[in-house]
Amino acid sequence: MTKTFKVAVLPGDGIGPEVVEEAINVLGVIEELEDVKFSFEYGRLGGCAIDEDGTPLPEQTVEICKAADAVLLGAVGGPKWDNNPGHLRPETGLLGIRKALGLYANLRPAFVLDCMAADSSLKEEVVKGVDLMVIRELTGGLYFGEKKRYEDEQGEVASDEMIYHEYEVERIVRRAFEVARLRNKELVSVDKANVLESSRLWRKVVDRLIPEYPDVECRHQLVDSCAMELIRNPKQFDTMVTENMFGDILSDEASMLTGSIGMLPSASLADGNFGLYEPVHGSAPDIAGKGIANPSATILSAGMLMKYSLGLERAANNLEKAVHNVINSGVRTGDITKNREEAVGTKAMSGAIINELRKVYAEQA
Ligand code: IPM
Ligand code: MN
Repeated sequence: MTKTFKVAVLPGDGIGPEVVEEAINVLGVIEELEDVKFSFEYGRLGGCAIDEDGTPLPEQTVEICKAADAVLLGAVGGPKWDNNPGHLRPETGLLGIRKALGLYANLRPAFVLDCMAADSSLKEEVVKGVDLMVIRELTGGLYFGEKKRYEDEQGEVASDEMIYHEYEVERIVRRAFEVARLRNKELVSVDKANVLESSRLWRKVVDRLIPEYPDVECRHQLVDSCAMELIRNPKQFDTMVTENMFGDILSDEASMLTGSIGMLPSASLADGNFGLYEPVHGSAPDIAGKGIANPSATILSAGMLMKYSLGLERAANNLEKAVHNVINSGVRTGDITKNREEAVGTKAMSGAIINELRKVYAEQA
């Protein structure tokens, strides 16, 4: 019997709706090529929800996501809401949904396709062959610790608390070991254990778990030296795991090794198979509605969704292959070419990926 999967779709703001539409088109083609059906439920998150519902994360959106097997998200935010107070900011919706759905494990791959190595701001020989994964803890640490604002005798004071429970560290580190197992079996745990107490707990947990994963080579690295090594010699990294704030910064740094944030997908996973998938890039309000955004990162996010949440490994691998083939064949959106004349639009890019996907399947038949 054909299996049906429920996918919650949150197009969001800016270019979000345009790139999500193409990922949905790709999933529609997967339905023809595999014995599966997708049923899509749409919800609002971010700026569009502030405008429509008066809150960046409507209760209904949480319900739609909870009832689904996985969530596909476009992007949220834009200048329109930039000066809003905290509870009416699109980012607050994003943080809220991570917490509400228990999405504690954020997987952010950064890979440099050979034909794009020259596009990086670093030397081609430094980045060629880079293929790494930053695993970021997503529901703890500085982001969710207590925030305070008060006055003392010296004036106004603000503080953010960096807090981790042992169980929070353990579950993300276990996930990281499991992901490293599926990759090159090398894990670097990144912390600031020379200064921070939360990092010393983090390191203690990692050390306790290391004997349970003897097939994975694991080492510790301080976050400042890690930031430096990522630029000096990024190829030394395979899988990295770190707390929320460090991961926010290091994953942006890693994304720029590739010279093309428009290509990078991400997954935010809860316990079990549930997850939310979104491109690493933002809502790019400057190009919204123009039909020129690169849909590749969102299409690859749909690929990760099939792999991590739905168990559709072959479909995911074939889709990844199709995207790589299309890029290798020279099809370029504006963000990944210096030659604006040759740039194609959103629809043309996804059309090329869909054609290639059919070809990849045909070759296997
Ligand atoms: C990200 C973003 C968010 C974060 C912002 C928009 C809240 O930068 O997904 O990395 O800091 O987590
Ligand atoms: Mn970020």
